[in-house]
Amino acid sequence: MFNFDFYNPTHIIFGKDRLESIDKHVPANATVLITYGGGSAKRSGLIDKVKTVLGNRKVYEFGGIEPNPRYETLVKAVEIVRSEKIDFLLAVGGGSVIDGTKFITLASSYKGDSRDLLKYGFTPITSEIVGNVLPIGTVLTLPATGSEMNSGAVISYEHGKFAVMSPLTFPKFSILDPTITFTLPKIQVANGVIDAFVHTTEQYITYPVDVRVQDRIAEGILQTLIEIGETTVAEPENYDARANHVWSATLALNGVVGAGVPQDWAVHMIGHELTALFGIDHGQTLAIVLPALLDVRREQKRAKLLQYAERVWHIESDSEEEKIDLAIQKTREFFESLGVKTRLSQYGVGADKIPVVIEQLKAHGMTALSETQDLTLDISQKILERAL
Ligand code: NZQ
Ligand code: ZN
Repeated sequence: MFNFDFYNPTHIIFGKDRLESIDKHVPANATVLITYGGGSAKRSGLIDKVKTVLGNRKVYEFGGIEPNPRYETLVKAVEIVRSEKIDFLLAVGGGSVIDGTKFITLASSYKGDSRDLLKYGFTPITSEIVGNVLPIGTVLTLPATGSEMNSGAVISYEHGKFAVMSPLTFPKFSILDPTITFTLPKIQVANGVIDAFVHTTEQYITYPVDVRVQDRIAEGILQTLIEIGETTVAEPENYDARANHVWSATLALNGVVGAGVPQDWAVHMIGHELTALFGIDHGQTLAIVLPALLDVRREQKRAKLLQYAERVWHIESDSEEEKIDLAIQKTREFFESLGVKTRLSQYGVGADKIPVVIEQLKAHGMTALSETQDLTLDISQKILERAL
């Protein structure tokens, strides 16, 4: 097991009818900015309920944070934070709204050009860089990213998606009420299952470092997602299936599975380019790239792929190749059983577009990806070809 620091200060408030707790966790004299997306939270009445709980506090709203939140949108909220002297940010939405709000809090305190904050990548942005930032709370509406209990954000600017990491952006609290997610379109539920699944595999199907607890937590999350996946998509109001979906997604990326382990993230980095270039949803890009990457990287990942085949899919065979082939096939079939296509060509992206993706990976410095940093542009190309 590698050395690690584990720090996660987010207070999770889970279950039905938990909105009232907001009152306890937002200071009584706070001036609050509620951030939300394209309108689903307005239409469902959720924003009104949140405002009711906030009572007499002074409340402003900022809507219109789009999926894959854009820098240009978020800086408009920064102006409101400064002009209205906001002192608490309350994000009501999915990963995009929560990520966007994390960026808003950092950018509001930063003295320079806030585009600078997109350049840090996986290097944490500290208070030496931005000073003191405003606290964030969240009401999660889409179980997928884990953003409700982590310190990361992904912000879109020009033709790229940029990781922004800061220990200052852990939400102070997050309300996880599965019933709030009942209004989701089926495709977003499926995307969410796949995102949580791939967050887990990025931190689990790497190489062995004898991390028994982390491995078993990862296998527990993967098996849970496999068990409830089809139900949580097909039966939007099945509380038990959705509750397990929500908590799996949070646990997949709150630092527990990733403590002390090698981490890959190549599926995400290649997937981000597919979103930026072709507008394919984040979860769908992962469903395209993961099976192809596991196939191309079977030598580097052999030991963990076999463990994945045996412990997650219960595959028995005398042939290692057959076990790996079957595990990859079952992974693809699982994604497809949720109604998500797993081939690039099914999204209208043909072989002629692969050089463009490779160019973008190069432009964003993604030339040595993976847990062993030996996934070159040539290998990314092979993965994309395998994904056609
Ligand atoms: O904008 P509205 O109208 O609210 O509609 C949204 C949006 O169109 C809709 N939606 C959300 N909750 C709903 C709902 N519709 C009906 N009922 C509800 N309860 O769903 C659509 C997608 O929302 P979005 O927030 O974009 O989805 P998701 O949560 O999958 O977030 C994706 C973003 O998170 C980033 C991705 O790159 C992408 O930008 N990620 C963030 C991570 C993190 N912070 O740790 C890690 C992830 O790997 C990921 O990269
Ligand atoms: Zn993801």
